[in-house]
Amino acid sequence: MLPCPVCWNNQEKNLCVLDQRLLPWEVSFIFCNTCEDVAQAIESLAVRGAPAIGVAAAYGVALGARKGKLEVERAIERLSRTRPTAVNLFWALDRMSQIAAGTEEEKLFSCLLNEAHAIREEDIAINRQIGTLGQSLLPRDGIVLTHCNAGSLATAGYGTALGVIRAAREHGKNIKVYADETRPVFQGARLTAWELLEEGFDVTVICDNMAGALMQKQAVAAVLVGADRIALNGDTANKIGTYSLAILARYHSVPFYVVAPTSTIDKEACEGSCIEIEERDGSEVREPAGHPLIPESFPVWNPAFDVIPHTLIQAIVTEKGVLTPPFLEKIIDI
Ligand code: MRU
Repeated sequence: MLPCPVCWNNQEKNLCVLDQRLLPWEVSFIFCNTCEDVAQAIESLAVRGAPAIGVAAAYGVALGARKGKLEVERAIERLSRTRPTAVNLFWALDRMSQIAAGTEEEKLFSCLLNEAHAIREEDIAINRQIGTLGQSLLPRDGIVLTHCNAGSLATAGYGTALGVIRAAREHGKNIKVYADETRPVFQGARLTAWELLEEGFDVTVICDNMAGALMQKQAVAAVLVGADRIALNGDTANKIGTYSLAILARYHSVPFYVVAPTSTIDKEACEGSCIEIEERDGSEVREPAGHPLIPESFPVWNPAFDVIPHTLIQAIVTEKGVLTPPFLEKIIDI
């Protein structure tokens, strides 16, 4: 069984986070006793993936509540500065803030902890629902290409894009997965391949620049990716490299599906240009997986995400249904 990426440790009353930086070599956990511990786990990518970040942040707020209501506000402010693109973070913080506002001081910690538990449990149930709906888009036998990690590790469990693959297997389908390595942090090679191999899936890692050759040589049934933020018109921010993959998919007539819970939809963003894209430290590019590749003096650009225009997306699979273009009205409806 896969380890839980974000779990409340009821004995020690702290948050247990699987340290994803060490995978696939080491299964090791970080124990967060304070909101600051959680913030650092998010910033350092020990916990990553939009829904998992939201769940971890919710527990971070609960940990802050141990010190009273004022500390809840500080916790929310601190956590909101960890990563700018995944909207699930702000969605979870909003939910926690609303509970805090309506709760008296003595019950603050227990009520916020219960809300964090609810966010976590809902996420798993939603992913299962997404999987059931999304698997209907896949053939009985076929090849699927995915980018980054939108799996169990990126959520509270089961995954979004990889949840669809899990559900397809539960429906008796035979899906072979290709996983883009996903430079510069290698979430595809390290995390997607690891979690699928742990569960006996047929998965093959490719370098990001091999995706075109794969589509040229093999009949790829679909590209399945997760999302960090979806604008109202369907434009979607996801891990850097997803945009190139969407263009390749269009050129090769391969359906390109975004798979995400409705908590990834940003009601404030009318289109992709409104989405803030995180830029991360150049050391991730200069020293991939901690191994020096180029000197520190070499300038690099390291955006963590890119935006896929809605025109390149065949469907957005959510727990409330499979949305097809035109997206705007359907997204507003749900
Ligand atoms: O930088 P990361 O690893 O947090 O980026 C993760 C992604 O881009 C995922 O594809 C996205 O969050 C969806 S996870 C279900």
